[in-house]
Amino acid sequence: ISKEVVIMKKAHEFASEYFHHLLLHTEEGENALNYLEERGFSKEIIEKYKIGWSLQKWDALTTLLERKGMDLKEIEKTGLIIRKENELKYFDRFRGRIMFPVFDESGHVIAFSGRILNKSENEAKYLNSPESPIFQKSQVLYNLDKARPDIRKQRNVVVFEGFLDVIAAAKAGIINGVATMGTALTSQHITKLNRLTSNVTLCYDGDKAGMEASKRASTSLQAQNIQTEIAIIPDAMDPDDYIKNFGEEAFRTKIIEKPHSYLSFMMIVLKRDKNFNNENDTLQYIQEILEILSERNSSVERDLYIRQISQETNVSEEAIYQHLRKLQGKKA
Ligand code: UTP
Ligand code: MN
Ligand code: MN
Ligand code: MN
Ligand code: MN
Repeated sequence: ISKEVVIMKKAHEFASEYFHHLLLHTEEGENALNYLEERGFSKEIIEKYKIGWSLQKWDALTTLLERKGMDLKEIEKTGLIIRKENELKYFDRFRGRIMFPVFDESGHVIAFSGRILNKSENEAKYLNSPESPIFQKSQVLYNLDKARPDIRKQRNVVVFEGFLDVIAAAKAGIINGVATMGTALTSQHITKLNRLTSNVTLCYDGDKAGMEASKRASTSLQAQNIQTEIAIIPDAMDPDDYIKNFGEEAFRTKIIEKPHSYLSFMMIVLKRDKNFNNENDTLQYIQEILEILSERNSSVERDLYIRQISQETNVSEEAIYQHLRKLQGKKA
């Protein structure tokens, strides 16, 4: 390990303790603490994930780091503090945000994500640390340090879209969850997971963006020979919203324990905003789903799904088979 990495991690460790202290033990942290409590974060959870608060001031953290004699120039490379071009003075990147530390696989803080308290129009909801020598987004999975033994034990990992969903799910008993840090699931993420298990459950947000992301992620996972199933959250909610609305048990038994195969998930996605009383919609649906089915080799699978498509569209199985053969003929 290089000297610069040691300094960077030390600064992050220090900053996380500082933010955590501000949230729990100061007046400035009270609004944030109330917000978190309203969202169902217990003291225990705040401790476990070392959640914190950053002051509204320009240089609260910078001043402390400086006073500790830490090398600000090295720390600047992590984006924890920043400096304007041609200026000498450093200032804090994170100001007036709820601070979520990101831990590496051995539990060291390597980055932060800061949430604004009240969603405003002109500011991003989450501000993240930039890429740095200690933080590579394409590699890091939130909560992997804590979830690893459970992923092995259960031979399954649940991948969420947001780290708040990971926390809400853990509270609901799903402790083998991880999330990417606002990026797509990369092949490096998948390689990492593949060392622990070859079964992934995707549980992204139920909105359009989440469905699209599920599609892409399942394609990447299957390309690396991972058994992939997709848990679907209804009504454009995310896992955290679902748990708030329907409870922890419903989340476990109706969502996480009832994931869909890729094909069944795609049928649900393609059916959205289609009406089978409308001929064009029906035709389009059959065309789209058969394009996926025609890539599959298993005749059993084809049989099963064609029966289902026939039932839901009221088109005969025979006609659907004919259409499928035509599609396959085009490819051959
Ligand atoms: P979401 O917008 O779904 O966040 O983004 P969320 O987890 O539901 O948060 P709440 O409930 O509104 O507080 C999912 C993930 O995308 C990244 C974050 O990693 C977040 O966890 N993201 C989102 C950003 O990086 N920046 C943003 O401005 C928004
Ligand atoms: Mn503490
Ligand atoms: Mn989302
Ligand atoms: Mn969400
Ligand atoms: Mn949410």
